[in-house]
Amino acid sequence: MLLSVRQRRILADMGIPIWRLRDTSAAGIASSGGEVPAFGSPAAAPEFGTVAQDAAVEILDWEALEARVRDCQACTVLARDRTQTVFGVGDRRARWLFIGEAPGAEEDRRGEPFVGRAGQLLDNMLMALGLDRHHDVFIANVLKCRPPGNRDPKPEESAACREYLDRQIALIQPEVIVALGRIAAQSLLESEEPLGRLRGAEHHYQGVPLIVTYHPAYLLRKPGDKARAWQDLQRARACLT
Ligand code: URA
Repeated sequence: MLLSVRQRRILADMGIPIWRLRDTSAAGIASSGGEVPAFGSPAAAPEFGTVAQDAAVEILDWEALEARVRDCQACTVLARDRTQTVFGVGDRRARWLFIGEAPGAEEDRRGEPFVGRAGQLLDNMLMALGLDRHHDVFIANVLKCRPPGNRDPKPEESAACREYLDRQIALIQPEVIVALGRIAAQSLLESEEPLGRLRGAEHHYQGVPLIVTYHPAYLLRKPGDKARAWQDLQRARACLT
């Protein structure tokens, strides 16, 4: 992969040495179509290609899952205060799944995860890997609604939202999950260990290898840790089959 001047600047800004980066930009990208409609279960609608309104989340197809999330009222306060839910963005057949904490103000306004300053850094991290948020990458959060005042998600909110994330994982079938930051890592791994102890190892979530790294918002405050984040991303890349 030949790096442009802009890419070189971004890598330098991330504290990443420029070796020969593997070009994965075209690898493993499948069309986003081809989802299998839910059928064959008593809870599914009888008609092929449609899903009953009250079907279990674990059998929903993408369209029905998106609608279910959009209408979710499980957390009264979050549902009341949100502008909209933030479902996730990217390639629905991605090998890479990045999971953050929860939408912030900008994400709540635009309906897309990681679109603020932290999101720009995440995009740069993806670019350093030869990726972008629409190809071979899906980005989601532990919570699909913005917590008021950007407070941490409550455990019961994360628990209520988990079946949506789990269904997304089942539909995507990623080869690696990257947990962005302490909250996402602790929530997914059901751990109270600090981030520093969760980094540097291969964990698993739903049978998928999971790597923990710093949240991009933290890296904006502590750019000195970008090189460590790059090590985490290399570890994640090594999980790809
Ligand atoms: N921080 C997150 O964890 N997720 C977002 O979508 C935006 C900021």
